[in-house]
Amino acid sequence: MPIHFFAEVVYKGIPWLPDGRAMFKLTVALVIVGLIKWYSMGASNTAERQMHGKIVMITGGTSGIGAATALRLAQRGAQIILLVHQSPQDIFLVDFIEDLREKSGNEMIYAEQVDLSSLYSVRQFATRWIDNAPPRRLDMIILCAATLTPAGKPRAVTSEGLEEVWMVNYLSNFHLLSILSPAIRAQPPDRDIRILFATCSSYITSPPIEDGTEAMKKKDWTPTKAYARSKLALMMFGLAFQKHLDSYQRPDGAPVNARVLFVDPGYSRTPGMRRWLTRGTLWGLALYLVFWQNVYLILKSSEGGAQSFLYAAMDATFGRGPGGKLIKECQEMDYARTDIKDETAAKKLWEASEKLIERVEREEAVRRALEKKEQEKGKSEKAAGEKPAEQTAANPENKQSKSRRQKKAK
Ligand SMILES: NC(=O)c1ccc[n+]([C@@H]2O[C@H](COP(=O)([O-])OP(=O)(O)OC[C@H]3O[C@@H](n4cnc5c(N)ncnc54)[C@H](OP(=O)(O)O)[C@@H]3O)[C@@H](O)[C@H]2O)c1
Repeated sequence: MPIHFFAEVVYKGIPWLPDGRAMFKLTVALVIVGLIKWYSMGASNTAERQMHGKIVMITGGTSGIGAATALRLAQRGAQIILLVHQSPQDIFLVDFIEDLREKSGNEMIYAEQVDLSSLYSVRQFATRWIDNAPPRRLDMIILCAATLTPAGKPRAVTSEGLEEVWMVNYLSNFHLLSILSPAIRAQPPDRDIRILFATCSSYITSPPIEDGTEAMKKKDWTPTKAYARSKLALMMFGLAFQKHLDSYQRPDGAPVNARVLFVDPGYSRTPGMRRWLTRGTLWGLALYLVFWQNVYLILKSSEGGAQSFLYAAMDATFGRGPGGKLIKECQEMDYARTDIKDETAAKKLWEASEKLIERVEREEAVRRALEKKEQEKGKSEKAAGEKPAEQTAANPENKQSKSRRQKKAK
């Protein structure tokens, strides 16, 4: 039987193979698909750095690109502090951390609760962090968390009354770094501190930021504009923050050792991207599944998106010279807009953001105080309402009347 088969192959060719023309077309198609996939996978990080003992604080480390970055840094021995909006007791979070510890072989992974949609939550965490003497070690902050409103969904507002995308993507980072600034500047001079901001090429299409009040307004709001605006504001703030760090005169006279780096991971298949593509709808999800092979072909994986973060975190060149560099596809890029470097515009935005935070925090403090007062009032009224009943039970007269009633009944 095999001899018969081989003889047929030698004299007549493989019966199930298409003819030469079809074979050629198939090969060309496969090469094109392979090239698209190879291109969309993006560049890989080749930088290495000793991460043992380094403390890395990361937002958005529970999903997509942030999770892939956290895993790779943990595998290299870094201590990871995940800033998450869930409670550290959340069962899914506990599972996630256990999994991360197992995959990385690193037990030094913890979570701290910080809801980036709340100024109060950010302040609570950051003040706890800086309220430590001597200052706690901090080698890296990775600001990877972000939110977006899918197209067609209404504008969302946080419990503190701020537009959600502006708050989570920009204002929370402004607030966090403003409070952590003394802890960053107090690090010893031989430490190479990096602050990585996740950005996105959508910043190029953003309308001008001015003092940020437009971002809060309902008028002309669209999900795309809100996201682009938040990323542009974040970059303007990042450069201003680098200036703020540079202007600090260290008591030991050493040069500034903290650098801001912007990282554009490129379009990646993450839960955030899926939410955007599917518009947060079931029919969108169905279409996404049907066209999954196209998504797979065009977008990189979360791991692919993490490569530029790993490069920014580990390449030795970023530990020297000025900060404020933009990294994409594991290489330094120029900004596509000049207004990012406009110091007057950045100052205007900084001052307005400070004022906004001050106002909202004051209003929220008053609201919380009133709420507490109401609760205490409610408690004391409840206690007062219960008191006569307690007195009745303890009252001997009542006890006598009760026994009298019992006697009568007999
Ligand atoms: N994916 C892309 O194609 C792409 C392209 C360019 C730039 N980027 C940027 O890269 C970064 C990572 O993107 P991604 O797609 O990997 O993100 P993602 O999958 O959407 O994950 C977002 C992360 O942010 C966290 N987060 C959201 N709201 C939060 C809040 N209120 N408090 C605390 N954490 C909150 C999420 O936590 P939960 O999971 O617990 O909600 C999650 O860990 C983002 O800054 C994004 O703008 C992404």
